[in-house]
Amino acid sequence: MEIKYNLKPSSQRRSEPFVPEGDVGFGVHRTDHMFVMDFYDGEWRDPRIEPYGPFELMPGTMSLHYGQAIFEGAKAFMHDDGEIYTFRINKNAERMNRSGEIVCIPHLPEDMQVKAIQALIDVDRLWFPRQPGACLYIRPFIFATEDRLSVSPSNRYTFCVMLSPSGAYYKSGFSNAIRLLISTKYHRAVSGGTGASKAAGNYAASLRAAKAAADMGAAQVLYLDANNQQIEEVGAMNHFHVLKDGTVIIPKFTDTILKSITSLSIMELSEMLGCEVRQETVMLDKFIADIEAGEIVEAGGFGTAAVVSPVGSYIFEDGRTVTVGDGEVGPKVKRIYQLFTDIQNGKVQGPEDWVVQVPHLHA
Ligand SMILES: Cc1ncc(COP(=O)(O)O)c(C=O)c1O
Repeated sequence: MEIKYNLKPSSQRRSEPFVPEGDVGFGVHRTDHMFVMDFYDGEWRDPRIEPYGPFELMPGTMSLHYGQAIFEGAKAFMHDDGEIYTFRINKNAERMNRSGEIVCIPHLPEDMQVKAIQALIDVDRLWFPRQPGACLYIRPFIFATEDRLSVSPSNRYTFCVMLSPSGAYYKSGFSNAIRLLISTKYHRAVSGGTGASKAAGNYAASLRAAKAAADMGAAQVLYLDANNQQIEEVGAMNHFHVLKDGTVIIPKFTDTILKSITSLSIMELSEMLGCEVRQETVMLDKFIADIEAGEIVEAGGFGTAAVVSPVGSYIFEDGRTVTVGDGEVGPKVKRIYQLFTDIQNGKVQGPEDWVVQVPHLHA
C-alpha cells in the first residue's frame, strides 16, 4: 500500500538538525509528523503521514470506555556515519499483533508496520537529537475508534506512529542500583488474562501499585504470580538475576509475562557475553534464600527504556529488606549494558538484521 504524504509546509518544519540544549528527557519532545492508518469495513486503509496533531474523536469512542488499545515501544539510533538505524522493530511489529490477538484488535501486517516507522523517521530525520547516547523513541499504537457503547470488539481502529527525540537513559553511566517492592498485595496479571500483551489497561492497572512502591522508597514493583509463589516481572521490565557462576536467569515467559525484546536479545547474545542466559520458573522463597546465601550476586530489569536497570535491594510490604550482593551495580550488569548499547550504536557488530538503516525515501 502506498503511503500518502501530507506534510507541513517546509517553512513550518525543522530545517536544521535538532541540537538540544541541556537534558532532552524521555518522551517529552515530539517531531513534526505522525503516521496514521485506519481500519474499517474489514480492512486497513489509507496509510498517510501528516502533521503531528490532535485526533477528532466522538465521546462514544470505544477505546475511551473499554480500553481496547495496544502500543509498542522501540528505539532508533544514529551511527558514526550520520545515518539512523532502527533496533529490531520487526520484533515490535510481531508483538503488536500478539497483543492485538489478546484484545481482539485486527492483524496489521508486520511489513506495513515496519514501513510506517521507516517512512516517518525518514521524513522527520532532522529531529534525531544530536547528543551522546540520545535516541529517537518510537511509539506505535492502535486504538478502537468506533462510536458505540457496547462491550464488544470495535469495527473501526486507528494505527498511529509517533516519535519522541529522547536523551540518554543513564547520563553518566550507572551510579545507583534501584530498590524494588515485592508486592503480595498487588498483581499485574493472571493466567488467561492480558499480561502478555502491551494492552493500555495493563498500565492503568499498575499505577496504584507503583504509587505504593514510591511510598516505600522503591522505584517500581516486582510482581509475583497471583498465588504469591513465583517471581514474574516488573511494571515495565522483565526481571533477571545473576548466579555466582555468572549465569543469567530470566523468569520463563508465560501468559502473565510480556515477552521483552531486550530479554530475547540478551538470550541470543549469551555467546558474545560469555555466559549462559536461560529461563526458569523462579520461586520467591528460593530466590530470597539464594540472595541471602550469596548464590545470587546481581539482579535487575531488562527493557527498551533503560536496557538494563540494576537492582540493589528489595523491600516487602512489611518493611523487610533484602540486599543483593553489596547493593551496588555489578560487573555482569555493566557488561550486558555495554555490549547491548554498543550493538545499538553500531560500535559492535551484532546479529544480522538487528540494526537496520532507515532508507532515504522522501527527498
Ligand atoms: C510489562 C513490560 N514488561 C517488559 C517490558 C520490556 O520489554 P522490551 O524489552 O520489549 O521493551 C516492557 C516494556 O516494553 C513492559 O511494559
